[in-house]
Amino acid sequence: MADSTIYRASTTAPVNIAVVKYWGKRDPKLNLPTNSSLSVTLSQADLRTLTTASCSASYLASEGDSLLLNGEPSDVSGARTQACFRELRTRRAALEAADPSLPKLSTMPLRLVSENNFPTAAGLASSAAGFAAFVRAIANLYELPASPSELSLIARQGSGSACRSLFGGYVAWRMGSAADGSDSMADQVAEAAHWPEMRALILVVSAAKKGVSSTSGMQQTVATSGLFQERIARVVPQNMDAMEKAIKERDFAAFAEVTMRDSNSFHATCADTYPPIFYMNDVSRAAIRAVEAINAAAGRTVAAYTFDAGPNAVIYYLEQDTEAVVGTFYHVLGDMDGWKREVLSGLKPTLSLDESVAGLLKAGVSRIIMTGVGEGPLKTEEYLVAEDGSPA
Ligand code: DP6
Repeated sequence: MADSTIYRASTTAPVNIAVVKYWGKRDPKLNLPTNSSLSVTLSQADLRTLTTASCSASYLASEGDSLLLNGEPSDVSGARTQACFRELRTRRAALEAADPSLPKLSTMPLRLVSENNFPTAAGLASSAAGFAAFVRAIANLYELPASPSELSLIARQGSGSACRSLFGGYVAWRMGSAADGSDSMADQVAEAAHWPEMRALILVVSAAKKGVSSTSGMQQTVATSGLFQERIARVVPQNMDAMEKAIKERDFAAFAEVTMRDSNSFHATCADTYPPIFYMNDVSRAAIRAVEAINAAAGRTVAAYTFDAGPNAVIYYLEQDTEAVVGTFYHVLGDMDGWKREVLSGLKPTLSLDESVAGLLKAGVSRIIMTGVGEGPLKTEEYLVAEDGSPA
């Protein structure tokens, strides 16, 4: 009789925010970067993707592989998603060839269901957590003996930044030099527990219109920016070394300076792209001024800003400086979605910001996300596909 078993596996995966940015592809097909990058993995208590991968011979072959994302069918025919399916199936097929007693999962259609625990409206790039969860869930389903670094090679082909979400803590993506991309993967620089006091305050800034996607923006930068050549040849290699040292030594002042300089350098290459690309807006720049004022008032560096391909500000700080950092922003922004009551309680009103800076922030920040450094993907018994194979 035909095997109608529904095979399932679930995982969660985290978001990561780079402190040395990935920007530029040397090979768009294999998704190989022009430079190494480094990120902090954020806590899944606040931001995570939960994905269940399932397969069964009873799933109609005519339906093919499918993905339900936040309740909506999502296209899986794109080259990047197909590359991930192919890489994972090839590895499973090798196990099945070596051990004929294994069920032939590699030949069955895959059904994936995925959900984020944060609103898509937050405008946070969820592709990193999404592809990391996608790859980890199928690897769990296929019982692949692959290490997180090996899985990062696969997730990289889905979305570059996703390769860093296979690990918790502080994570580097080494650009590698092999033409086939076999050495372009992530590794862990330090566990979350090495520097657990790291916090992130995200100011969600609504963009007037949708900006240039990172995939296309970075291609335009590679093609047209002269400044970019300096960035990949000298700036990033120096920032990678300085950042790894800062993390190993838990030196926040050094971590912060490299984080801010690298964000500025990345956005400078965007401005040097022709025609120029602007991801930051007046509200983003007000957030930079606020961080500078906070650091000046503290007399040392207690906060660091960084911006990705959009106007949201991510502000890193250490738990012991919550009052100086969070206190100032709460004082300006007042009540809005996302503040954690337990963190706010007892914070004394601190520094008053310049009126124009305060006004821009108050008008432009729509919500807050408070989080911190966290762990990598976690296997879970929570399933988004029921035992009968239907979406749960
Ligand atoms: C600015 O990983 O989204 O967030 O590989 O084309 O999917 P693709 O790009 P993506 O780019 C992220 C760019 C960034 C910086 C970073 O995360 O390092």
